[in-house]
Amino acid sequence: MKKVSLVLTGYGNVGKSFVRLLLDKREDCARRYGLDLELTAVLRRSGGWLAEGCEDFESLAADTTVPLESHSGWTPGLTLEDALSRTSAGVLVECTPSNWRTGEPQLDFLHLALDHGWNITAASKGALVVDFKNLRAKARTKGLALKFSGATAAALPTLDVATISLAGADILRIDGILTGTTNYILGRLEQGESFEAALAEAQAKGIAEPDPSMDIDGWDTACKLLLIANSAAEIDLTLKDIKVEGIRSVTAADLSKARAEGKALKLLGRLIWDEGRYTAEVKPVAIEPSHPLYRLTGTSKGIAFLTDTMGTVAVTDGKSDPRGTAASVLKDIINIYRD
Ligand SMILES: NC(=O)c1ccc[n+]([C@@H]2O[C@H](COP(=O)([O-])OP(=O)(O)OC[C@H]3O[C@@H](n4cnc5c(N)ncnc54)[C@H](OP(=O)(O)O)[C@@H]3O)[C@@H](O)[C@H]2O)c1
Repeated sequence: MKKVSLVLTGYGNVGKSFVRLLLDKREDCARRYGLDLELTAVLRRSGGWLAEGCEDFESLAADTTVPLESHSGWTPGLTLEDALSRTSAGVLVECTPSNWRTGEPQLDFLHLALDHGWNITAASKGALVVDFKNLRAKARTKGLALKFSGATAAALPTLDVATISLAGADILRIDGILTGTTNYILGRLEQGESFEAALAEAQAKGIAEPDPSMDIDGWDTACKLLLIANSAAEIDLTLKDIKVEGIRSVTAADLSKARAEGKALKLLGRLIWDEGRYTAEVKPVAIEPSHPLYRLTGTSKGIAFLTDTMGTVAVTDGKSDPRGTAASVLKDIINIYRD
């Protein structure tokens, strides 16, 4: 049995779901993978919880609506460095908010974890988008895992397919529907809803954020495309390299034209190999019925890779709610040690 220490940063929707999932799956992970997963610390902004033993974890996980501060292991002012220094190195589970302009607070956390010899799985994409090249180089130099399935469409296995299943193949094109919100809104527009009404409906159902601009202006798709493309094709795209157009300017005429031609309008993140170089873009594209992503409706997501040797490989769907995201984080942890 291999003992693995886990430190969690961020105790919001995803962080709490991860704690609950760990309680549900811990015994299974021991039985099936020989991994004794031990949550040793959880950090919020004002401090953190430190595990003193197994019972503490179980009381924490039994009811995640209880504030972290009410548990016996609560330590005001606890820093990540304190938490990492208390046990042998394991995996940092990073679930703080994604700030794709500064990368903080995640950027400091990821560098600190790598500097202390910890592997990483991140649900947050901010720091990875801001500093991918340096983080990847640092992790490789130190022989540590830097995984981020939760940040790249959660349970949809975009990265695993790109980096494991397609190993050795050249990626000639990636087409991804990577944001469920925009796919949902485009679907409602197609059914004759106005943009404002479709957005309001998506917000009421909790599909769109209160500030939906990141999704509808295409930046969420661009951030995910950047991380997937850099991992799949071993390149160093930055956000500046991606031409980004969202769905605000989609008109009823665009949708009617696509429908009249038997096509479906989708917001795609695309990486295209042409004339010896890659270009990357995010924009609404009318796709043919033969396209593997054509049938995706509602909040579904999917990705299709065109390769030189394996043809087109596509995966679709998978949950992207907090539990689905937590499950992709757990998958990363298992695969770090299985590798
Ligand atoms: N929600 C989803 O379904 C989903 C899906 C895929 C990916 N993600 C990504 O997962 C991440 C977490 O999402 P979420 O929905 O769980 O967010 P959330 O509910 O807003 O939770 C964020 C947590 O991060 C903590 N935090 C903020 N700054 C911190 C700092 N400096 N040090 C320690 N903790 C800090 C917050 O602390 P306080 O408790 O002190 O406020 C809060 O507990 C985001 O990056 C998001 O983009 C989310």
